[in-house]
Amino acid sequence: MDVTPSILTADFCKLGETLDEAIEAGINWIHMDVMDGNWVINKTITFGPAIIRSVRERLGDEVFIDCHLMINNAEETWIQYVDAGVDMIIAHIEAVQDFPNLISEVQSTGTQIGCVLNPDTEIEEVMPLLPDLDLVLVMSVVPGKGGQSFIPEVEHKVKAFREAIDEQENSGGKTPILMIDGGIKHHNAAMVSEWGIDIAVVGSGLINDEGTISQNLLRINKVLESQ
Ligand code: DX5
Ligand code: ZN
Repeated sequence: MDVTPSILTADFCKLGETLDEAIEAGINWIHMDVMDGNWVINKTITFGPAIIRSVRERLGDEVFIDCHLMINNAEETWIQYVDAGVDMIIAHIEAVQDFPNLISEVQSTGTQIGCVLNPDTEIEEVMPLLPDLDLVLVMSVVPGKGGQSFIPEVEHKVKAFREAIDEQENSGGKTPILMIDGGIKHHNAAMVSEWGIDIAVVGSGLINDEGTISQNLLRINKVLESQ
């Protein structure tokens, strides 16, 4: 399992240095959490396309950037994030009216698309989209902020998606990446990896006061290696 940092717990005055530190630690995928002050239950605002554009300029083209859109109008505004330089749009099934249409529109620009579902949303909402998706993201916290506790009840969802993706691959279809987001730390990373996760978003477990990104990543990778 790979790890991608969410920068929500970073000091935004030092974002450039934090990103450089992540890249130096061996990170090659950055997860950017966009909240518009409306969609998430705690009405948080994070950042928008301008910051993402600066991040892209800082990191160059080698690093993969996804943006996790926790916003009301993803169907109207996703193109702003593509223009800002993201490689992948991740939109919520709960926030988009016509997801099949969004998939084809985003993919027609050469950008990848993922579908994310909240902890209380049924997998059946996303399963029909699987043949066309580039990624499925299972939320293991209620979206809104970093540093929340992991919700272990998502286990059956992760395993069901793993099975469906493997079946699809075996029958010659696409192989969407399976991602998890929220509350992942060194103590539960091996568990979600065993469930079949390809890549875990880690925010406060990587960017915190306990250690450098490199030290925190090493601690996670050690438990993954000893699996
Ligand atoms: C939650 C965001 C996450 C999250 C990750 O709304 O989508 O990416 O902040 O942070 P941690 O790992 O601290 O839960
Ligand atoms: Zn996220």
